[in-house]
Amino acid sequence: MTDTDSLRTIRDFFRLAISRFNAAGLVYGHGTTNALDEAAFIVLEGLHLPIDQLEPFLDANLLPAERQRLADLIEARVATRKPASYLLNRAYVGGAPFYVDERVIVPRSFIGELLRSDVVVGGDGALIDDPARVGRALDLCTGSGCLALLMAGAFPHAFVDAVDLSPAALEVARRNVDDYHLADRVELLQGDLFAPLAGRQYDLIITNPPYVAESVMADLPPEFAVEPAMALDGGGDGFDIVRRILAGAGAHLAPGGGLLCEIGEDREILEAEYPDLPFLWLDTSESAGEVFYLPAEALRPKAPPRIAAGKPPRRRPATAKGATSAATSAARRPRRR
Ligand SMILES: C[S@@+](CC[C@H](N)C(=O)[O-])C[C@H]1O[C@@H](n2cnc3c(N)ncnc32)[C@H](O)[C@@H]1O
Repeated sequence: MTDTDSLRTIRDFFRLAISRFNAAGLVYGHGTTNALDEAAFIVLEGLHLPIDQLEPFLDANLLPAERQRLADLIEARVATRKPASYLLNRAYVGGAPFYVDERVIVPRSFIGELLRSDVVVGGDGALIDDPARVGRALDLCTGSGCLALLMAGAFPHAFVDAVDLSPAALEVARRNVDDYHLADRVELLQGDLFAPLAGRQYDLIITNPPYVAESVMADLPPEFAVEPAMALDGGGDGFDIVRRILAGAGAHLAPGGGLLCEIGEDREILEAEYPDLPFLWLDTSESAGEVFYLPAEALRPKAPPRIAAGKPPRRRPATAKGATSAATSAARRPRRR
């Protein structure tokens, strides 16, 4: 039980939070990476203050109800080990706020930053030089809907489909879509990857799929273990769903389109398995090579072999009148010494 009478200012609670978090050995990674940033987020968001401005408020006195609220939040973070975003029902991606609870993972995708980066959108030589040319976009594995909504912001003319297998996650996404008044441009669909999208094609597909390997899933810190397992679990080496996305994306990409996909740290596995795919690895302020871009043309399904129209093919290589089969002519070609 915290003695809130002896704590007066935001500075007091900021300090208390850091001491408690360090002593408890908390694990971070849901929007912050250390005890100071975590404490600042809890204190500022808990008081409905701008989360990027601690300094001006440090010496502000708090009302008794505010002191109690901060004390409760700090204790809950330590006692439950839930990520701060679940305690506050709020997460920020690229400065944009989203409602979250335990039906979705806490948003932290690097794609949020990439959608605002001029390497991807709008800059000189950007992957998508003209945002207006994206008319249809897809967010696969949408969770809270955060990336779908950021896409709707980045591409003002786009209609965005957002798919998730989890009906519970889609309830959270619905709330966020409504909060942003974007129901006329963001459609939520329930289903397994591309299954609900028959016949639909997109100028851009983005996805932050589950990609945690089996061995890592078996030993998650408490902060991650409270997130929906289906949002993290990528099977064996983590790439079961990524492989299915690579297999299915081509059929849903319009000419000139592309796939932007987050896969975590093991890119070597994919590079070895798909030596013919021209992965373009994109960095962000906090990641190196954890997101790839592939153009539609590289992902097109291979055309099945065609039977030529007209006369049926000969079963044996012809030998008469110079009509030689490829096999026989190759066999006769002189060998290089
Ligand atoms: C890593 S979370 C990403 C959520 C959100 N896009 C974000 O970046 O915060 C992965 C999401 O994929 C969903 N999912 C898992 N398997 C799926 C499948 N086979 N088809 C569609 N969605 C799936 C999970 O329910 C979860 O919401």
